[in-house]
Amino acid sequence: MEIKRLSVNSMETPLGYDFDKPCLSWVVSSSARDDYQVAYRLEVTLDESFSSIVYDSQRQESSQSVNIPLDLTLEPCTRYFWRVTVWSAKELAPVTSHTTWFETARYQLPWSGKFISCRFELPQLRKTFSIHAPVRSARLYACGLGLYKAFLNGKPVSAEELAPGICAYDCWIPYQTYDVTDLVQVGENAIGAWLGNGYYKGRVNWPGMKERRCIYGDKNIFLAELVIETEAGETIVIPTDESWEASASPLLRAEMYDGEVFDSRLYSRDWSTASKHDLSWESTQVADFDMSLLQARRNRPVLVMEQRVPTVMTTPNGDTLLDFGQNASGRIRVRGTWPAGTEIRLQTGEVLDRFGNLYRENLRTALSEQVYISDGLPCDYAPSFTCFGFRYAKVTGITEVDPSCFTMEVLYSQMEQTGHFSCSDPLVNKLYMNTLWGQKSNFVDNPTDCPQRDERMGWAGDAQVFAPTACMNMNAQTFFHKYLYDLAHEQKKTGFVPVTIPNILLKTGMWQIPTTGWSDAAVIIPWTLYLHYGDLRILEEQYDSMKAWVDYITAQDAAGTHLYQGFHLGDWLAQDTKDPNNRFGLTPPDLIATAFYAYSARILSDTASLLNKEEDAVHYAELSEKVKEAFRKEYVSQSGRVVAETQTAYTIALMADMLLPHQRVKAVDGLANRLRIDHVMLTTGFLGTPYLCPVLSENGLNEYAYTLLLQKECPSWLFEVLMGATTVWERWNSMREDGSFGPVSMNSFNHYAFGSIVQWMYQYVAGIRPLAEGAGFRHFRLQPMPNSMLTHAEATLESPYGLIASSWALQDDQIELTFDIPFGTTAEILLPDIENAEIIENGVLLDNPGEHFIRGSGHWVYQYTFSGETIHRRVPAPQPPPF
Ligand code: BGC
Repeated sequence: MEIKRLSVNSMETPLGYDFDKPCLSWVVSSSARDDYQVAYRLEVTLDESFSSIVYDSQRQESSQSVNIPLDLTLEPCTRYFWRVTVWSAKELAPVTSHTTWFETARYQLPWSGKFISCRFELPQLRKTFSIHAPVRSARLYACGLGLYKAFLNGKPVSAEELAPGICAYDCWIPYQTYDVTDLVQVGENAIGAWLGNGYYKGRVNWPGMKERRCIYGDKNIFLAELVIETEAGETIVIPTDESWEASASPLLRAEMYDGEVFDSRLYSRDWSTASKHDLSWESTQVADFDMSLLQARRNRPVLVMEQRVPTVMTTPNGDTLLDFGQNASGRIRVRGTWPAGTEIRLQTGEVLDRFGNLYRENLRTALSEQVYISDGLPCDYAPSFTCFGFRYAKVTGITEVDPSCFTMEVLYSQMEQTGHFSCSDPLVNKLYMNTLWGQKSNFVDNPTDCPQRDERMGWAGDAQVFAPTACMNMNAQTFFHKYLYDLAHEQKKTGFVPVTIPNILLKTGMWQIPTTGWSDAAVIIPWTLYLHYGDLRILEEQYDSMKAWVDYITAQDAAGTHLYQGFHLGDWLAQDTKDPNNRFGLTPPDLIATAFYAYSARILSDTASLLNKEEDAVHYAELSEKVKEAFRKEYVSQSGRVVAETQTAYTIALMADMLLPHQRVKAVDGLANRLRIDHVMLTTGFLGTPYLCPVLSENGLNEYAYTLLLQKECPSWLFEVLMGATTVWERWNSMREDGSFGPVSMNSFNHYAFGSIVQWMYQYVAGIRPLAEGAGFRHFRLQPMPNSMLTHAEATLESPYGLIASSWALQDDQIELTFDIPFGTTAEILLPDIENAEIIENGVLLDNPGEHFIRGSGHWVYQYTFSGETIHRRVPAPQPPPF
């Protein structure tokens, strides 16, 4: 038995957070079957040798190992060490974990540092100081707006990029804590910072909008407090104040959309060291700033998570391109030596056009370029305050392009990959990888629609439809938690849930109405997090926001129709109108909106029950039922025909459980019929697509789901793969078969919304499904739904309780399924096509298993001859007309 992955609020060794409600978790791995924890003991101390214990739970008889609230009042700026001892049902002796730690931020501690500014745009700031005794520890508490990068004695204080991150800056501003113990030296020291613009002060854009800057502020400002403790026990504080100096930095441009221009002729390489520097520096001023906005960070840092090397190619029009082989978010590190004055310009793009030339029109007004101007000295440069979505970069300014001078630094928020999927079809495996890259590319501190064009906003609908996939792919708990924190803030300002979070458009006066499926993110994302991570706090914290959204819809319905009418984006980018300029699809937006109204009210009612808010639970359950009734009256025939008869209308009606039992049967037929008329080709948009395959599999139409997955013609997922996609496109026809492009005004090659099919792959093909009654995979379902269109599939999920695995392989009529169920969990297993089958479980004949059965931890193997009832089923060929 081994204890691993000790975490606080789902983060391992978190530094610099205000843990309002710290919750501890650990994972036990054990080879014993059916093993679980019977008791634990938690010890928290102020020193690694456990001589200053501040909390000792003593032995607690409990099987809980995830999200255990720590009943301890935490002090600011304090590192706590902790370990856990676990007694299990099967091991005689308890096991104690390794020692780990977490460190608090400042809570309400007043700042002695003040925000400072200067007259320069994109300035650099610095201060020298002396330390006379060996240093025991040093922390930097800092924040810079729009963006900042701090240095100590010439070195970055951390690997973090794009700090302080993206948020509703007018509601709160995060500061960061860095452990800089190793960077402070006895003798002379210097601390410095570069400031950039980010969305706080830089350019934001919206089609048709006059260019806007300075949405949140018009000055670059910086705040720091360096706290040094010497071995002698002295505390020295170096705060930002007027004694800091400022000068123009080497950055001539630093914009999220447009990129960076770095003139190294203005770059004094020792600017943030204590050694002499040759630039003229000016004094700084204290900036007027509302310090009450400052809060400890809530996000995990954006880091260089991966690196990629390019190949060099020449395009038919003579351009020299770097090809990094993968569309991703990041920047390019440039290393080499070029004559002074050389201007190396790298302009990014996602795809090549049908002639093989770089395509950049879809970036709209985003310049998306990085420029390095050489001072003749060796260069090791990567932009600090920008990020591009790209695979290719056009190089100008140098004639000899040596690929080893360029590295793509892939940026995304620190998140562990938790899920893996693979199957017998390499194209599906590529689709899976493309979706994962879509997540990496659009999870750069805020869930964005796309990372490349002049938009890159936190569109709530995109985030909502992708959230279940995201939570399987990676540990996205902290990431979404922060997004929801911003969402609730924005909602308070407007009374509704805006379509983008932060609500950058509010500041521009553009688009201030909610829309179904987007605004429902307020309800659906917290619930998704609860299902996948089992942490009730997210529901507690978001409850008011969830409720306010459902109440908002109700308030729009003055006539008491229980329908949600008005303007909605509907099934955004659906293909069923055949009109390339129609973005809303054929399904009536109010039909979708009313179904989402009922769905959100239902989730809210379930949430209220979990939080023991009985009155609300009853009220919203009743509301949901009334909305369903109104839906049936308005959109469904007596027998169950849904008015629009689109794939999306049937899918959403079934998904949101809008129909009476006999109508469901008819609707399932209606959906199958619709799909056959559509030659089993997708016509769905943003809101229909995520639910289509799950609805099909759950309603006896699994073969339709597989057929859709495996289609190779446009519109389909594999069409994109066959066209060479390395991420998921915004539109089914972002690129056509002849290599021409979809409408240039809105055509991203890195939008994750349609990647939501991956949820179906994990949860239906491989069958690893969370259950509300065992949230966080403490109790879950294993129900693989194979079809012989694939011969094997497998998925793993590093769940909060440990590794879950599920795989199946078919050979003729034989099937073998294997499962791994983690320590302390149980799974209900539903095996496919078991009618009259003799099922061998771990080598032994299973006696009367029933339709489903429950198993505890361990490795489980099942083998049998299957009935073929569903596994070999195919979509029937269309009937010839009778005349
Ligand atoms: C974004 C979408 C978004 C949509 C809604 C687009 O510009 O890229 O992903 O959800 O607008 O209107």
